Amino acid sequence: MMDAFLFVGLPYLSLLIFVVGCLWRARREKFTLTARSSQFLEDRQLLFGSTPWHIGIGIVLLGHLIAVLFPKVWASLLTVPGALLAVETVGVACSLLAVAGLSVLLVRRLTSGRVQAVTTPADLIVAGLLLVQVVVGLLSAIHYRYGSAWSTGTVVPYFWGLIKLQPDMSYVTGFPPLFKLHLTLAWVMVLLVPFTRLIHLLALPLQYLWRAPIWVVWNNARRRREAAVAMARAESRREFLKGAVGVAGAGGLLALGVMEKGVSYFRGPRLEPEMEAELLTKKLQRLQQTAEERELELERQRNPMILVARYSELTENKGKYFIDYSMAPALAFKGKDGLPLLISAKCTHLGCTVGSEVDAQGRILCPCHVSYFDLRTGRPNEGAPAKAPLPHLGWALVDASGKVVARKSPRGPVEGDVDPAALAQCSVYIIKPQASAT
Ligand code: FES
Repeated sequence: MMDAFLFVGLPYLSLLIFVVGCLWRARREKFTLTARSSQFLEDRQLLFGSTPWHIGIGIVLLGHLIAVLFPKVWASLLTVPGALLAVETVGVACSLLAVAGLSVLLVRRLTSGRVQAVTTPADLIVAGLLLVQVVVGLLSAIHYRYGSAWSTGTVVPYFWGLIKLQPDMSYVTGFPPLFKLHLTLAWVMVLLVPFTRLIHLLALPLQYLWRAPIWVVWNNARRRREAAVAMARAESRREFLKGAVGVAGAGGLLALGVMEKGVSYFRGPRLEPEMEAELLTKKLQRLQQTAEERELELERQRNPMILVARYSELTENKGKYFIDYSMAPALAFKGKDGLPLLISAKCTHLGCTVGSEVDAQGRILCPCHVSYFDLRTGRPNEGAPAKAPLPHLGWALVDASGKVVARKSPRGPVEGDVDPAALAQCSVYIIKPQASAT
């Protein structure tokens, strides 16, 4: 119920208020579509707050916008590991820049007497909410890595579903609370645009960067001198802004170009002898462990069937984990037809273990980068980071006397007679892949 309000009700309410409110304000209060500059009241802190804030948040918003408008191009670009790493790094760096800038602006609003006099409660609420929003976004990016990639298969289709009036909140209801908060705050921001200084998003004064300076000519000598000083300052600020935009752009491109090489350089081990010895010990332990695992694997390979669970332990909504023949995690469910349904739980993206809960649409979720897999077909959702389906596994039903009463290979039909009344006494086994293929 709460999810329905936050991810369907609130977005539509916000979009409605945004459109109606902005039209009303543009019609009735045309000359208030600005950020209500307070530069003439205080300009030093403003320079060190406004510039990093606008550059940081501008680049972050641009990244979000590109992902929404060109999800396929964006997703395919991010399949290149270096590009993904660079985008994530630039995103985090720009968010930090934005947080630093906004903090300066907030302090200025609270401490500069002249600016305080023109500050409304709405200004403080907006600044506070923006700060929380950017920090939450930053924490989400750090905790749930590669959001730039997995959001194209979740947030983007969710957003377009809303726009096409076919809302599907299941894309986002499985998100962790931090990310849900980020999404909810975004809709709250949209709602606030018509009533706050956020309206200046719709009237960006970009021409400021290239238009000729405005000359104010005074009739009075003292005023003329002051105006010349002010003009020199304004000019240098303009140059600084141009330079900062240029540096940010060049920095982004540079990061894209050299990140992969830079990472491989820093990744290279340069260790002290003791550390190297410790590393070697760990490697040996790992080798030993691998040998034991291999032994276990070989042991398993000698059995044509391995016990997974009693049939009565299987359910439709929650899978039971087990280890398959290749020592990878797998899940056992009761299928819709009442028969066992065994599927690999090793995500086909980067190998995380897929969750065991089945959602309302019959999907299981890989939480690492959010890929939803259809339990019946094994296929990932469109736009998910994972591209290949999760393979199903063959199974055998064995009754209390040890007799195989039914069996199924991954793609073949069910062989044998299944007596529903006797199912409760049966156990489920996985069949060795070659054995199940026959
Ligand atoms: S979605 Fe990346 S490992 Fe599963």
